[in-house]
Amino acid sequence: MPITVGTVNCVYRPDDFLPGVADEILKRKSPGLAGAADRAGFALRFIPVQELIPASDDRPRLWHQGEDLLSTRQCYQVDDFSWDPQASHVLKAVYRTIQESDSLLLNRSMDGPEYLATDKLAIAQHAASLGIPTPASIAVPYGRHARSVLSLVEENLGQGPYILKPREMGMGFAVQKIDTFQQLPAAIDMVAQAGTGYIVQPYLPHSADVRIYLTEGEIIAALHRTAGEGAYMTNVSQGGVSRVLPGWKEVEEQCFTIATSLRASCLLIDWLLTPSGPVLDEWSSGFGSFPTHAPEVGDAFFSWVRRKLA
Ligand SMILES: Nc1ncnc2c1ncn2[C@@H]1O[C@H](COP(=O)(O)OP(=O)(O)O)[C@@H](O)[C@H]1O
Ligand SMILES: [Mg+2]
Repeated sequence: MPITVGTVNCVYRPDDFLPGVADEILKRKSPGLAGAADRAGFALRFIPVQELIPASDDRPRLWHQGEDLLSTRQCYQVDDFSWDPQASHVLKAVYRTIQESDSLLLNRSMDGPEYLATDKLAIAQHAASLGIPTPASIAVPYGRHARSVLSLVEENLGQGPYILKPREMGMGFAVQKIDTFQQLPAAIDMVAQAGTGYIVQPYLPHSADVRIYLTEGEIIAALHRTAGEGAYMTNVSQGGVSRVLPGWKEVEEQCFTIATSLRASCLLIDWLLTPSGPVLDEWSSGFGSFPTHAPEVGDAFFSWVRRKLA
């Protein structure tokens, strides 16, 4: 029996999904994640965010069923966005409470502003400033002003197809492919009623995605993900299939440029493999599922966690 060296608390938001779906996701995530945690001697605990109450007296507190979780030093991973604006705000309070404590927030693995870990518009802007190819991205104005984006889209992105997606979400949630400019106004009307921001990008045909796992200046693995039959998203949670490549030379330098500029010690960088070369899709700093067929990814992650704890 390995000695337990710590607990990783994963704070998640069940209310963004159909009832029962969050549990399914956890079940699916668990084998790779739990296996890696177990090998590294960590216990895993999943906490739905509504059970947590952040507070402050002489120090940050995070109350969970009468216990202040921050009274001992532990590791946390906090999903810090939601389509529900108030839930999103609470998640950010939990995230920042842990950040202000002596516990370790594992998805805060970079310096600089926290939005650079999640905001797809900011990520595209930052990457473009580093000379990295990114899809052109246009933010949709809020509410009744939303349609004012249409002429700008037509002028800058042409007649379609487009991708319309939330600025801050994950797992392919609400990512839509819109085939023609004619279809765009109705889709924009829909997102005008949503509680969160959206962006429009040109749809870039691509044969696959590659996700590069990087810890402390080293590429751990490159995961090659292809969309399921007839699908347009490669998220494994959306039916995509993944396979591990030993390394991925074409974007290696660019990955190092990104990680250095963010001073990121742990980063997942996703690339779209387009006919004209790799284009950055997004990066993220947390960890979700680890591929069960690539235990080295989870092992590398947990040895990074152990170093951070030490
Ligand atoms: N501009 C785009 N062109 C083509 N495919 C895209 C584009 N943006 C996203 N996709 C596809 O949709 C998937 C989900 O989009 P992504 O931006 O990664 O959001 P999420 O945070 O939900 O993973 C991507 O993995 C990719 O397969
Ligand atoms: Mg993605």
